[in-house]
Amino acid sequence: MHHTYRDEAERRTWQNPERILAEAEIMLGDVLIDLACGFGFFAIPAAKIVGPKGVVCGVDIDQEALEELREKAALAGLRNLRLKPAAAEDVVLCEQCADKVFVGIALHDFKDPLKVLQNAKRALKTGGRLVNLDWKKEQTPFGPPLEIRFSESEAVSLIERAGFKVVSVKDSGPYHYLISANLLQ
Ligand SMILES: C[S@@+](CC[C@H](N)C(=O)[O-])C[C@H]1O[C@@H](n2cnc3c(N)ncnc32)[C@H](O)[C@@H]1O
Repeated sequence: MHHTYRDEAERRTWQNPERILAEAEIMLGDVLIDLACGFGFFAIPAAKIVGPKGVVCGVDIDQEALEELREKAALAGLRNLRLKPAAAEDVVLCEQCADKVFVGIALHDFKDPLKVLQNAKRALKTGGRLVNLDWKKEQTPFGPPLEIRFSESEAVSLIERAGFKVVSVKDSGPYHYLISANLLQ
């Protein structure tokens, strides 16, 4: 486990969470599961986007990160975040309850990424969408070691093995790609 990118202002110079969540088609009223939400770089803006009739459910194994996220949400007056300290391999928050599942630069961090994706599949409603943002497998000025990164094609095949149909693979800023996938019916 590593917690880099703690300086949110600096991170925003190379990654724009609102733009990424818009590309992920996160909408007002959505039920969104943010797997490995960390300190909430995506969960906080997502909670603002989904609004009071939506909900963002964050899962992370790091309880301290979740505590910090809880405090940030309270300061921002957000009451639509639900946080679950758990390994994403071990939980399906609810069956067929989510409009979207988002994984932000974390798929390569899971011990069993296939299991995490299979759990994500169970949590999605019919018509639901999985969105995976991750580091390109190429030299970048910072980021995790190349050997633990998934290339776009490795991530696509893992996502397909878990039972999804990939609908788009796009560049997302200088260092990342964004994969969107629908449930296979
Ligand atoms: C690089 S951080 C990304 C956090 C957040 N998505 C973001 O973009 O800022 C990776 C996160 O994955 C979490 N993590 C690692 N293994 C996990 C697991 N098996 N289940 C849930 N969370 C996990 C870590 O605690 C950490 O918060």
